[in-house]
Amino acid sequence: MAATAAMAGRLWWKHGVIYQIYPRSFMDSNGDGIGDLDGIRQRLDHLSFLGVDGIWISPCFPSPMKDFGYDVSDYCDIDPMFGDLASFDRLLAEAHARDIKVILDWVPNHTSDQHAWFLESRRSVKDPKRDWYVWRDPKLDGSPPNNWQAIFGGSAWEWDTETGQYYLHSFLTEQPDLNWRNPDVEAAMHDVLHFWLKRGVDGFRIDVIHKIAKDPELRDNPLHENGLPGYLGQIHVNDEDHPDVHGMLRSIRRVFDRYPERMTVGEVALSHPDPAVTASYLGKGDELDLAFNFSFMLGPWTAADYRREIDQFLGLIPAGCWPDWVLSNHDFARHASRHDHPELGEKRARVAAALMLTLRGTPFLYYGEEIGMRDGVIPEDRMQDPLAWTIHPKLSRDPERTPMQWAGGAGAGFSDGEPWLPIADGHDQRNVETQRWDPGSMLHLYRDLIALRRATPALEGGSFDWVDSDTDVLAWKRRAPGSRALVALNLGEAPASARLPEARVTGGLHTAHGSPLPARSGTVELQPCEGLVLVVED
Ligand code: GLC
Ligand code: CA
Repeated sequence: MAATAAMAGRLWWKHGVIYQIYPRSFMDSNGDGIGDLDGIRQRLDHLSFLGVDGIWISPCFPSPMKDFGYDVSDYCDIDPMFGDLASFDRLLAEAHARDIKVILDWVPNHTSDQHAWFLESRRSVKDPKRDWYVWRDPKLDGSPPNNWQAIFGGSAWEWDTETGQYYLHSFLTEQPDLNWRNPDVEAAMHDVLHFWLKRGVDGFRIDVIHKIAKDPELRDNPLHENGLPGYLGQIHVNDEDHPDVHGMLRSIRRVFDRYPERMTVGEVALSHPDPAVTASYLGKGDELDLAFNFSFMLGPWTAADYRREIDQFLGLIPAGCWPDWVLSNHDFARHASRHDHPELGEKRARVAAALMLTLRGTPFLYYGEEIGMRDGVIPEDRMQDPLAWTIHPKLSRDPERTPMQWAGGAGAGFSDGEPWLPIADGHDQRNVETQRWDPGSMLHLYRDLIALRRATPALEGGSFDWVDSDTDVLAWKRRAPGSRALVALNLGEAPASARLPEARVTGGLHTAHGSPLPARSGTVELQPCEGLVLVVED
């Protein structure tokens, strides 16, 4: 079946499923309590079993780890904590041998303050690298050059006593912003891409791409009428989503054009989210390949809300471009926790899986969601995320970053040592080992959905149209040449039905494993939080 799809022009990042690995938390191979690249390699079996097409590894480059790798001190190496270039090459080769693509995380907006470029830049106002970052004189009263705020709290400007100027940092003070208006910076950052693309990397997730261009005059942001303090209390006309970012993206795209089948997916995490702006980062098919669609992250668990978000995003995708869907990542509470429910929590997570894997567009899965992992409860004295102290412990992103639950027992099969974050409660029951032998488990549901998607051209790349249904039900049809699928998902707490087109059912699955599939589609009845994916005769 995979061969047939390939012949029909299957493009891995478009038709496949991408799985995010937070490397600190996936698998520790040497007992220091921190996940690493050899650990990921040891667990490739799991990824093959699951059937994903590609993995995205959050930053694994040398870093002081102030923001756990999103503060890079060398873009062209691997942090010793995670391994070295040789262990990376081994991982890449073994992943490729299993037909799993590997994408890395490129952080272009800022470096670590320990990056050689910044160490040089801060030496003196005359340093040749001075202009690689954004340095400015204080105002006459000594205050920062403008009113910009750091997303991680406080002014976006840090005073440097030695050289008597401020530097700009959109996140932590240890993450100075690069000056993308300097052509040498742009060239050096393109070289980073070449370095990894030549090594065989299949693409990049691009961190906060909407931030790289700012107002050249560094004008103040107007205040937002919401009256909130800090970053959210401003309208970010001058420090995010500046129109010049699109030209910079087109140049980045030209780097990728030299390497066939490599891809980019960009994070456009606007302070005031707007799917239209997100979609604009696809350009005319000449900017990003995919722009993370975070619209599911913020909404409630209602069919109406999902319907609206789906309609909106699909409607915004420019001709020739491709949508994508995200329910969880390393910056948000896990969806199984966000939408947990005393009786229906598990069933909701199963319906969510069917939704992600049967919509038109590339699904991004977050490690652990395939076993229904919930957020951990992290005591304050074990919190690691800097947001816990720069803003508030409630904003800590540690709960969604707890170690992968491979097995029961002390280290959850993740580590023989003391894990860097506590293992989430309930891992003795909820883990890969137990679920692997249970055909009714969440893990098998994800695996079956991925296999069904891969075997069904209509699900991988077909058209999308809504079908009439009860209010709490989402129902749609997908169609590709010679292939047809129907989906009906009940998000509600009562039985409901959908009126699917009449056809003979040839395959598919029920989110309640073991429930029989109807012989024909037509009106289908669904129990609360249950869903059907039907492959029907064309
Ligand atoms: C992105 C990352 C987040 C990081 C931030 C700063 O939003 O997803 O984890 O803290 O960028 O690099
Ligand atoms: Ca380790």
